[in-house]
Amino acid sequence: MKILITGGAGFIGSHVTRRFLTNYPAYKIYNLDKLTYAGNLENLKDIESNPNYQFVLGDIVDASFINNLFSTHSFDAVVHLAAESHVDRSITNPLEFVFTNVIGTVNLLNAAKNSWKENFEGKMFYHVSTDEVYGSLGLEGFFTESTSYDPHSPYSASKASSDHFVRAYHDTYGLPIVISNCSNNYGSFQFPEKLIPLCIHNIKNNKSLPVYGDGKYTRDWLWVEDHARAIDLIFHKGKNGETYNIGGFNEWQNIDLIKELCRIMDEKLDRPKGTAEKLITFVKDRPGHDLRYAIDASKINRALDFTPSVKFEEGLEKTVEWYLSNDEWMNNVTSGNYKKYYEAQYTNR
Ligand code: NAD
Ligand code: DAU
Repeated sequence: MKILITGGAGFIGSHVTRRFLTNYPAYKIYNLDKLTYAGNLENLKDIESNPNYQFVLGDIVDASFINNLFSTHSFDAVVHLAAESHVDRSITNPLEFVFTNVIGTVNLLNAAKNSWKENFEGKMFYHVSTDEVYGSLGLEGFFTESTSYDPHSPYSASKASSDHFVRAYHDTYGLPIVISNCSNNYGSFQFPEKLIPLCIHNIKNNKSLPVYGDGKYTRDWLWVEDHARAIDLIFHKGKNGETYNIGGFNEWQNIDLIKELCRIMDEKLDRPKGTAEKLITFVKDRPGHDLRYAIDASKINRALDFTPSVKFEEGLEKTVEWYLSNDEWMNNVTSGNYKKYYEAQYTNR
Protein backbone atom coordinates (compact mmCIF):
# COMPACT_ATOMS: atom_id res chain seq x y z
CA MET A 1 0.00 0.00 0.00
CA LYS A 2 1.35 3.42 -0.97
CA ILE A 3 0.29 6.16 1.44
CA LEU A 4 0.74 9.87 0.96
CA ILE A 5 1.04 11.69 4.29
CA THR A 6 0.93 15.48 3.94
CA GLY A 7 2.54 17.69 6.57
CA GLY A 8 4.61 14.79 7.92
CA ALA A 9 7.43 17.13 9.00
CA GLY A 10 5.11 19.00 11.38
CA PHE A 11 4.22 18.23 14.97
CA ILE A 12 1.38 15.69 14.63
CA GLY A 13 2.41 14.57 11.13
CA SER A 14 5.82 13.43 12.37
CA HIS A 15 4.20 11.24 15.03
CA VAL A 16 1.75 9.78 12.49
CA THR A 17 4.56 9.11 9.99
CA ARG A 18 6.68 7.38 12.64
CA ARG A 19 3.73 5.28 13.84
CA PHE A 20 2.74 4.13 10.33
CA LEU A 21 6.34 3.23 9.40
CA THR A 22 6.89 1.37 12.65
CA ASN A 23 3.61 -0.53 12.77
CA TYR A 24 3.09 -1.31 9.08
CA PRO A 25 6.29 -2.54 7.41
CA ALA A 26 4.32 -3.43 4.27
CA TYR A 27 3.40 0.22 3.64
CA LYS A 28 5.42 2.64 1.58
CA ILE A 29 5.07 6.10 3.12
CA TYR A 30 5.57 9.31 1.15
CA ASN A 31 5.84 12.42 3.30
CA LEU A 32 4.90 15.49 1.28
CA ASP A 33 5.80 18.71 3.05
CA LYS A 34 6.59 22.27 1.99
CA LEU A 35 8.83 22.75 5.04
CA THR A 36 7.27 26.03 6.09
CA TYR A 37 8.54 27.51 9.36
CA ALA A 38 6.54 24.70 11.07
CA GLY A 39 8.05 21.82 9.09
CA ASN A 40 11.20 20.36 10.58
CA LEU A 41 12.86 17.24 9.21
CA GLU A 42 14.79 16.87 12.45
CA ASN A 43 11.46 15.59 13.82
CA LEU A 44 11.95 12.49 11.66
CA LYS A 45 15.70 11.92 12.03
CA ASP A 46 15.18 8.47 13.58
CA ILE A 47 13.18 7.09 10.66
CA GLU A 48 14.55 8.90 7.61
CA SER A 49 16.72 5.96 6.51
CA ASN A 50 13.81 3.50 6.67
CA PRO A 51 13.61 1.99 3.14
CA ASN A 52 9.81 2.38 3.19
CA TYR A 53 10.06 6.15 3.72
CA GLN A 54 10.41 8.85 1.11
CA PHE A 55 10.41 12.59 1.70
CA VAL A 56 8.92 14.80 -1.02
CA LEU A 57 9.47 18.57 -0.86
CA GLY A 58 6.45 20.34 -2.31
CA ASP A 59 3.48 22.65 -1.90
CA ILE A 60 -0.10 21.38 -1.84
CA VAL A 61 -1.19 24.73 -3.29
CA ASP A 62 0.62 23.89 -6.54
CA ALA A 63 -2.05 21.90 -8.43
CA SER A 64 0.10 20.74 -11.34
CA PHE A 65 2.82 19.53 -8.99
CA ILE A 66 0.23 17.60 -6.95
CA ASN A 67 -1.37 16.07 -10.06
CA ASN A 68 2.04 14.93 -11.34
CA LEU A 69 2.89 13.45 -7.97
CA PHE A 70 -0.30 11.36 -7.98
CA SER A 71 0.33 10.23 -11.60
CA THR A 72 3.89 9.19 -10.75
CA HIS A 73 3.16 7.27 -7.58
CA SER A 74 -0.47 6.02 -7.79
CA PHE A 75 -1.13 6.40 -4.07
CA ASP A 76 -3.72 4.13 -2.49
CA ALA A 77 -4.51 6.50 0.34
CA VAL A 78 -3.93 10.00 1.64
CA VAL A 79 -3.59 11.08 5.26
CA HIS A 80 -3.86 14.85 5.01
CA LEU A 81 -2.34 16.85 7.85
CA ALA A 82 -0.56 19.68 6.01
CA ALA A 83 -1.96 23.00 7.14
CA GLU A 84 -1.25 26.39 8.51
CA SER A 85 -2.13 25.57 12.11
CA HIS A 86 -1.58 28.57 14.39
CA VAL A 87 -4.58 30.76 15.26
CA ASP A 88 -2.51 33.90 16.01
CA ARG A 89 -0.78 33.72 12.62
CA SER A 90 -4.20 33.38 10.93
CA ILE A 91 -5.21 36.69 12.48
CA THR A 92 -2.23 38.48 10.93
CA ASN A 93 -2.21 36.62 7.60
CA PRO A 94 -5.58 35.00 6.81
CA LEU A 95 -4.93 34.49 3.08
CA GLU A 96 -2.08 32.08 3.69
CA PHE A 97 -4.63 29.93 5.54
CA VAL A 98 -7.06 30.07 2.62
CA PHE A 99 -4.31 29.01 0.21
CA THR A 100 -2.96 26.08 2.16
CA ASN A 101 -5.97 24.88 4.15
CA VAL A 102 -8.70 25.40 1.55
CA ILE A 103 -7.09 25.43 -1.91
CA GLY A 104 -4.39 22.93 -0.91
CA THR A 105 -7.06 20.52 0.34
CA VAL A 106 -9.16 20.89 -2.82
CA ASN A 107 -6.05 20.27 -4.96
CA LEU A 108 -5.45 17.01 -3.09
CA LEU A 109 -9.11 15.98 -3.41
CA ASN A 110 -9.01 16.62 -7.17
CA ALA A 111 -5.77 14.72 -7.60
CA ALA A 112 -7.08 11.75 -5.60
CA LYS A 113 -10.40 11.69 -7.48
CA ASN A 114 -8.71 11.91 -10.90
CA SER A 115 -5.98 9.43 -10.09
CA TRP A 116 -8.45 6.87 -8.69
CA LYS A 117 -10.68 7.31 -11.77
CA GLU A 118 -13.82 6.47 -9.85
CA ASN A 119 -12.45 3.06 -9.01
CA PHE A 120 -12.50 3.71 -5.31
CA GLU A 121 -12.15 0.13 -4.06
CA GLY A 122 -9.49 0.04 -1.32
CA LYS A 123 -8.86 3.78 -1.53
CA MET A 124 -9.15 6.34 1.30
CA PHE A 125 -8.80 10.10 1.74
CA TYR A 126 -8.33 10.83 5.45
CA HIS A 127 -8.67 14.50 6.38
CA VAL A 128 -7.27 15.54 9.76
CA SER A 129 -9.22 18.42 11.23
CA THR A 130 -9.81 20.26 14.47
CA ASP A 131 -12.47 20.78 17.12
CA GLU A 132 -12.16 24.56 16.49
CA VAL A 133 -14.57 24.24 13.53
CA TYR A 134 -17.41 23.87 16.05
CA GLY A 135 -16.74 27.32 17.56
CA SER A 136 -16.91 28.05 21.23
CA LEU A 137 -18.79 26.44 24.11
CA GLY A 138 -20.11 28.18 27.20
CA LEU A 139 -19.31 26.72 30.60
CA GLU A 140 -21.30 23.54 29.88
CA GLY A 141 -21.75 20.99 27.11
CA PHE A 142 -19.57 19.17 24.59
CA PHE A 143 -18.94 19.13 20.84
CA THR A 144 -20.43 16.04 19.20
CA GLU A 145 -20.05 14.97 15.57
CA SER A 146 -23.40 16.63 14.79
CA THR A 147 -22.65 20.01 16.41
CA SER A 148 -23.13 22.76 13.79
CA TYR A 149 -20.01 24.42 12.47
CA ASP A 150 -19.45 27.93 13.87
CA PRO A 151 -15.80 28.92 13.35
CA HIS A 152 -14.54 32.26 14.67
CA SER A 153 -10.89 32.62 13.63
CA PRO A 154 -9.54 32.69 10.07
CA TYR A 155 -7.76 29.43 10.99
CA SER A 156 -10.92 27.63 12.09
CA ALA A 157 -12.90 29.12 9.18
CA SER A 158 -10.34 27.72 6.74
CA LYS A 159 -10.38 24.30 8.42
CA ALA A 160 -14.21 24.30 8.43
CA SER A 161 -14.18 25.12 4.73
CA SER A 162 -11.76 22.27 4.01
CA ASP A 163 -13.98 19.84 5.97
CA HIS A 164 -16.98 20.92 3.86
CA PHE A 165 -15.03 20.32 0.64
CA VAL A 166 -13.99 16.85 1.80
CA ARG A 167 -17.63 15.94 2.54
CA ALA A 168 -18.73 17.51 -0.75
CA TYR A 169 -16.31 15.25 -2.68
CA HIS A 170 -17.77 12.25 -0.87
CA ASP A 171 -21.36 13.25 -1.54
CA THR A 172 -20.82 14.42 -5.13
CA TYR A 173 -18.22 12.04 -6.53
CA GLY A 174 -18.36 9.14 -4.06
CA LEU A 175 -14.76 9.74 -2.93
CA PRO A 176 -14.07 7.51 0.10
CA ILE A 177 -13.28 9.82 2.99
CA VAL A 178 -13.00 10.00 6.76
CA ILE A 179 -12.61 13.15 8.85
CA SER A 180 -11.47 13.46 12.43
CA ASN A 181 -11.79 16.56 14.60
CA CYS A 182 -9.38 16.56 17.49
CA SER A 183 -8.79 18.74 20.52
CA ASN A 184 -5.47 20.40 21.54
CA ASN A 185 -2.46 18.12 21.26
CA TYR A 186 0.67 18.26 23.38
CA GLY A 187 3.96 16.35 23.42
CA SER A 188 7.35 16.24 21.71
CA PHE A 189 8.27 18.14 18.50
CA GLN A 190 5.66 20.90 18.85
CA PHE A 191 6.75 24.28 17.49
CA PRO A 192 7.30 26.67 20.44
CA GLU A 193 4.70 29.20 19.31
CA LYS A 194 1.99 26.99 20.86
CA LEU A 195 1.15 27.41 24.54
CA ILE A 196 2.91 24.44 26.18
CA PRO A 197 6.32 24.42 24.43
CA LEU A 198 6.35 28.24 24.49
CA CYS A 199 5.93 28.25 28.28
CA ILE A 200 8.52 25.50 28.77
CA HIS A 201 11.04 27.43 26.68
CA ASN A 202 10.29 30.74 28.41
CA ILE A 203 10.44 29.34 31.93
CA LYS A 204 13.79 27.74 31.20
CA ASN A 205 15.12 31.08 29.93
CA ASN A 206 13.46 33.21 32.65
CA LYS A 207 11.26 34.97 30.11
CA SER A 208 7.68 36.10 30.79
CA LEU A 209 4.73 33.77 30.25
CA PRO A 210 2.11 35.65 28.19
CA VAL A 211 -1.39 34.72 29.40
CA TYR A 212 -4.06 36.01 27.02
CA GLY A 213 -6.95 37.86 28.70
CA ASP A 214 -7.90 36.55 32.13
CA GLY A 215 -6.47 33.08 31.47
CA LYS A 216 -9.84 31.42 32.05
CA TYR A 217 -10.08 30.05 28.51
CA THR A 218 -10.46 26.30 28.52
CA ARG A 219 -9.01 23.64 26.24
CA ASP A 220 -9.18 19.83 26.18
CA TRP A 221 -5.65 18.37 25.93
CA LEU A 222 -4.64 15.08 24.34
CA TRP A 223 -1.20 13.39 24.22
CA VAL A 224 -0.02 13.63 20.60
CA GLU A 225 0.84 9.92 20.41
CA ASP A 226 -2.73 9.12 21.46
CA HIS A 227 -3.93 11.29 18.57
CA ALA A 228 -1.62 9.37 16.21
CA ARG A 229 -3.05 6.10 17.55
CA ALA A 230 -6.60 7.36 17.00
CA ILE A 231 -5.70 8.33 13.41
CA ASP A 232 -4.26 4.84 12.88
CA LEU A 233 -7.50 3.26 14.21
CA ILE A 234 -9.77 5.48 12.10
CA PHE A 235 -7.63 4.98 8.99
CA HIS A 236 -7.88 1.20 9.31
CA LYS A 237 -11.28 0.69 10.91
CA GLY A 238 -13.25 3.91 10.44
CA LYS A 239 -16.36 3.88 8.26
CA ASN A 240 -16.28 5.53 4.86
CA GLY A 241 -17.98 8.95 4.97
CA GLU A 242 -17.90 9.24 8.76
CA THR A 243 -16.58 11.90 11.12
CA TYR A 244 -14.95 11.04 14.44
CA ASN A 245 -14.30 13.49 17.26
CA ILE A 246 -11.11 12.77 19.21
CA GLY A 247 -10.49 14.19 22.67
CA GLY A 248 -8.90 13.61 26.01
CA PHE A 249 -11.80 14.22 28.44
CA ASN A 250 -9.21 16.52 29.96
CA GLU A 251 -10.24 20.15 30.29
CA TRP A 252 -7.92 22.78 31.73
CA GLN A 253 -8.23 26.52 32.12
CA ASN A 254 -5.07 28.06 30.62
CA ILE A 255 -4.02 29.67 33.89
CA ASP A 256 -4.28 26.38 35.83
CA LEU A 257 -2.35 24.55 33.14
CA ILE A 258 0.39 27.21 33.15
CA LYS A 259 0.63 27.00 36.96
CA GLU A 260 0.94 23.21 36.77
CA LEU A 261 3.71 23.63 34.16
CA CYS A 262 5.44 26.15 36.45
CA ARG A 263 5.35 23.64 39.32
CA ILE A 264 6.84 20.85 37.19
CA MET A 265 9.50 23.15 35.72
CA ASP A 266 10.64 24.43 39.16
CA GLU A 267 10.98 20.83 40.27
CA LYS A 268 12.88 19.67 37.16
CA LEU A 269 15.17 22.70 37.11
CA ASP A 270 15.79 22.46 40.82
CA ARG A 271 14.58 26.00 41.42
CA PRO A 272 12.73 27.14 44.57
CA LYS A 273 8.95 26.58 44.51
CA GLY A 274 7.12 29.58 43.04
CA THR A 275 10.03 30.79 40.86
CA ALA A 276 8.35 30.13 37.50
CA GLU A 277 4.95 31.52 38.56
CA LYS A 278 6.55 34.94 38.98
CA LEU A 279 6.98 34.98 35.18
CA ILE A 280 3.21 34.88 34.56
CA THR A 281 2.16 38.07 32.75
CA PHE A 282 -1.41 38.82 31.71
CA VAL A 283 -1.40 40.33 28.21
CA LYS A 284 -3.90 41.63 25.67
CA ASP A 285 -6.44 38.99 24.67
CA ARG A 286 -6.46 37.14 21.34
CA PRO A 287 -9.21 38.70 19.15
CA GLY A 288 -12.20 36.39 18.73
CA HIS A 289 -10.77 34.09 21.43
CA ASP A 290 -12.95 30.99 21.86
CA LEU A 291 -13.89 30.54 25.52
CA ARG A 292 -14.03 26.77 25.77
CA TYR A 293 -13.54 23.63 23.71
CA ALA A 294 -14.66 20.24 25.01
CA ILE A 295 -15.05 17.06 23.02
CA ASP A 296 -17.61 14.33 23.41
CA ALA A 297 -15.42 11.45 22.27
CA SER A 298 -17.95 8.71 22.97
CA LYS A 299 -18.41 7.78 19.28
CA ILE A 300 -14.76 6.82 18.73
CA ASN A 301 -14.77 5.11 22.11
CA ARG A 302 -17.84 3.02 21.22
CA ALA A 303 -17.05 2.37 17.56
CA LEU A 304 -13.29 1.87 17.69
CA ASP A 305 -12.62 1.27 21.39
CA PHE A 306 -10.37 4.33 21.66
CA THR A 307 -9.49 5.84 25.02
CA PRO A 308 -6.53 8.12 25.79
CA SER A 309 -3.67 6.06 27.25
CA VAL A 310 -1.70 8.80 28.98
CA LYS A 311 -2.95 10.74 32.01
CA PHE A 312 -2.39 14.48 31.60
CA GLU A 313 -0.18 15.03 34.67
CA GLU A 314 2.05 12.14 33.54
CA GLY A 315 2.07 13.33 29.90
CA LEU A 316 2.88 16.90 30.88
CA GLU A 317 5.81 15.74 32.98
CA LYS A 318 7.09 13.55 30.12
CA THR A 319 6.68 16.51 27.75
CA VAL A 320 8.71 18.81 30.01
CA GLU A 321 11.42 16.13 30.31
CA TRP A 322 11.51 15.74 26.52
CA TYR A 323 12.01 19.46 25.85
CA LEU A 324 14.59 19.79 28.64
CA SER A 325 16.61 16.88 27.34
CA ASN A 326 16.36 17.97 23.70
CA ASP A 327 18.09 21.32 23.96
CA GLU A 328 19.62 20.91 20.55
CA TRP A 329 16.20 20.54 18.90
CA MET A 330 14.87 23.61 20.72
CA ASN A 331 18.02 25.66 19.99
CA ASN A 332 17.86 24.76 16.31
CA VAL A 333 14.18 25.72 16.14
CA THR A 334 14.55 29.00 18.00
CA SER A 335 17.73 30.01 16.11
CA GLY A 336 16.35 28.97 12.71
CA ASN A 337 19.16 26.42 12.21
CA TYR A 338 16.64 23.62 11.64
CA LYS A 339 16.11 25.08 8.16
CA LYS A 340 19.61 23.92 7.21
CA TYR A 341 18.79 20.30 7.93
CA TYR A 342 17.07 19.69 4.59
CA GLU A 343 20.03 21.03 2.61
CA ALA A 344 22.54 19.03 4.60
CA GLN A 345 20.52 15.84 4.50
CA TYR A 346 18.91 15.84 1.08
CA THR A 347 20.38 18.25 -1.45
CA ASN A 348 23.98 17.05 -1.20
CA ARG A 349 23.19 13.39 -1.79
P1 NAD B 1 2.13 21.99 12.25
O1 NAD B 1 1.96 23.44 11.97
O2 NAD B 1 3.07 21.56 13.31
O3 NAD B 1 2.58 21.25 10.91
C1 NAD B 1 2.02 21.53 9.65
C2 NAD B 1 2.90 20.92 8.59
O4 NAD B 1 2.32 21.19 7.31
C3 NAD B 1 4.34 21.49 8.55
O5 NAD B 1 5.27 20.45 8.44
C4 NAD B 1 4.34 22.38 7.32
O6 NAD B 1 5.61 22.50 6.71
C5 NAD B 1 3.33 21.63 6.42
N1 NAD B 1 2.73 22.55 5.44
C6 NAD B 1 2.18 23.77 5.67
N2 NAD B 1 1.76 24.32 4.51
C7 NAD B 1 2.02 23.42 3.53
C8 NAD B 1 1.81 23.41 2.11
N3 NAD B 1 1.25 24.45 1.49
N4 NAD B 1 2.19 22.32 1.42
C9 NAD B 1 2.76 21.26 2.05
N5 NAD B 1 3.02 21.22 3.37
C10 NAD B 1 2.65 22.29 4.11
O7 NAD B 1 0.66 21.45 12.51
P2 NAD B 1 0.15 20.33 13.52
O8 NAD B 1 -0.10 20.96 14.83
O9 NAD B 1 1.01 19.13 13.42
O10 NAD B 1 -1.28 20.01 12.87
C11 NAD B 1 -1.41 19.05 11.83
C12 NAD B 1 -2.87 18.97 11.42
O11 NAD B 1 -3.67 18.61 12.54
C13 NAD B 1 -3.44 20.30 10.91
O12 NAD B 1 -4.29 20.01 9.83
C14 NAD B 1 -4.21 20.85 12.09
O13 NAD B 1 -5.28 21.65 11.64
C15 NAD B 1 -4.69 19.57 12.76
N6 NAD B 1 -4.90 19.65 14.22
C16 NAD B 1 -3.92 20.14 15.04
C17 NAD B 1 -4.12 20.12 16.43
C18 NAD B 1 -3.07 20.62 17.40
O14 NAD B 1 -3.34 20.69 18.59
N7 NAD B 1 -1.87 20.94 16.96
C19 NAD B 1 -5.32 19.62 16.95
C20 NAD B 1 -6.30 19.16 16.06
C21 NAD B 1 -6.08 19.15 14.70
O1 DAU C 1 -8.22 22.72 19.47
C1 DAU C 1 -7.33 22.26 18.49
C2 DAU C 1 -6.42 23.40 18.09
O2 DAU C 1 -5.49 23.59 19.16
C3 DAU C 1 -5.66 23.12 16.78
O3 DAU C 1 -6.58 23.02 15.74
C4 DAU C 1 -4.65 24.24 16.50
O4 DAU C 1 -3.89 23.92 15.34
C5 DAU C 1 -3.73 24.37 17.70
O5 DAU C 1 -2.83 25.44 17.48
C6 DAU C 1 -4.52 24.59 18.98
O6 DAU C 1 -5.15 25.91 18.96
P1 DAU C 1 -5.18 26.87 20.24
O7 DAU C 1 -5.37 28.25 19.78
O8 DAU C 1 -6.10 26.33 21.27
O9 DAU C 1 -3.65 26.61 20.76
P2 DAU C 1 -2.57 27.62 21.36
O10 DAU C 1 -1.45 26.78 21.90
O11 DAU C 1 -2.24 28.71 20.42
O12 DAU C 1 -3.33 28.28 22.59
C7 DAU C 1 -3.89 27.50 23.64
C8 DAU C 1 -4.62 28.46 24.58
O13 DAU C 1 -3.65 29.27 25.25
C9 DAU C 1 -5.54 29.43 23.87
O14 DAU C 1 -6.67 29.68 24.70
C10 DAU C 1 -4.72 30.70 23.74
C11 DAU C 1 -3.85 30.66 24.97
N1 DAU C 1 -2.50 31.27 24.82
C12 DAU C 1 -1.73 30.87 23.77
C13 DAU C 1 -0.47 31.37 23.59
C14 DAU C 1 0.39 30.95 22.42
C15 DAU C 1 -2.04 32.16 25.76
O15 DAU C 1 -2.73 32.50 26.76
N2 DAU C 1 -0.78 32.65 25.62
C16 DAU C 1 0.03 32.32 24.54
O16 DAU C 1 1.17 32.84 24.45
